[in-house]
Parts: sequence; C-alpha cells; structure tokens
Amino acid sequence: GDVVAVMLEVIQGEGGVKEAGKGFLKQLRDYCDKEDILLIFDEIQTGMGRTGKMFAYEHYDIIPDIMTLAKALANGVPIGATVASEKASSYFKPGTHATTFGGNYLACAAANKVMDIMTEEGFLKKVSQNGAYLQKELENLFGEKAEIRGEGLMVGASLKGVDSTDFIKAAAENKLLLVAAGDNTVRFYPPLNTSKDDMDYGLGLAEKTLKDLSED
Ligand SMILES: Cc1ncc(COP(=O)(O)O)c(C=O)c1O
Repeated sequence: GDVVAVMLEVIQGEGGVKEAGKGFLKQLRDYCDKEDILLIFDEIQTGMGRTGKMFAYEHYDIIPDIMTLAKALANGVPIGATVASEKASSYFKPGTHATTFGGNYLACAAANKVMDIMTEEGFLKKVSQNGAYLQKELENLFGEKAEIRGEGLMVGASLKGVDSTDFIKAAAENKLLLVAAGDNTVRFYPPLNTSKDDMDYGLGLAEKTLKDLSED
C-alpha cells in the first residue's frame, strides 16, 4: 500500500485533552496489522506517568509499533526518545539517525533516575488516585460551567460560558499558572508528586478565580 504509518496521540494534549477512545484504537490497531502499516503513538505529553500508567497506551490494551517520548522523560533535562518494537527497530541501524547531543550522559542519567522513581512501588497508583481526586474536585467546582476530561493527572476543563483566556489571566493574578488547549479548554497538569494539600491549595485558587470572574 501507499501508507507507511499512522501517528497519533492516544489522548490529545494541545488538541484539548481528548481521548481517542478504546474502540477506535482497537480498530486502528487491527487495521494497521491487516494492511502492514506501522502504528506510532506520540506519548510525549501522555507518557512517563502523566495518566497514571507509565505510558497512556496501557489503558487501551493495545501496543504501538513505535512511540515517542520526551518532556517528563528526564524531568526537565532536555531529552527525547523513540521506542520501537523489535520489528520496527530493525529498519534503524546504529548511525541511521544521528543527532549532535544524542546519548548525552547527563540527560540519560537524569532519565534513568526518573525511571527509577516512577517505577517505585505505589508511585503511579498515587498519580491515579490524585488524578481521580482532582477530576472529582474540579467537577464539583465548575459544575455546569465546564466538562472535565482526562486521565490521571492529565486533566482538561472544557469551559462553558467562560472564556479560557480570561480564566487563565484571572488565575495568574491569583498565582495559579494554567495553560490553554484546544477549544476553550484549560489544562490542569500538576507535578506528578504533588501532595493532596498542594492540590487543595491550587483548587482553592481556582475557586477564587471563578468567583472573581462571576463578580466582574
Ligand atoms: C504531544 C506532543 N508531541 C510533541 C511535542 C513536541 O515535543 P518537543 O518540544 O520535545 O519536541 C509536544 C510539545 O508540546 C507535544 O505535546
């Protein structure tokens, strides 16, 4: 066929925290297998524990042929990685994809340490628990004013009747830093090791922000 690969995020980040869905991903995996097409997941935003699993695809009972990782991989030290199945990786030989800083010792040491911490007993479970708490609290807080979406600590509030830019500006005045995504969605992505107290503090600032806006 003419198609080499299909690449997507299993949960869109910049697109507004939108899940591809289990049925769709399963059908896509089956189709790619049937047509001999590589399935590539961009896990740069969803990977490394963000959704409560090490990689987001683990929520969907399917495995990609290739995935990309970056961002949280070395927790702020710049690094990116491409991970491939044995079959897909056989097309790459040492030197096929050279990069000036590839294999950088400092970045790799940082990534190794991040892996150690994230694979410690209970770490990812805590992310799931904190994520469920955050989503529930945001649902209570926004009520009809937002649809809360996401998985683990990758949470988006799709605002209704409130402009996301106005909300983010008002939140910054309350010292709560948030980022927009997609169509009028505000992202809540606290650090994976955030304590419940810190989340409650942040939720309090979000509550104050909503109140400030309704008083304007
Ligand atoms: C899903 C996704 N892929 C790729 C990128 C780009 O990553 P990098 O800045 O590490 O090249 C981003 C950055 O926002 C992203 O969210």
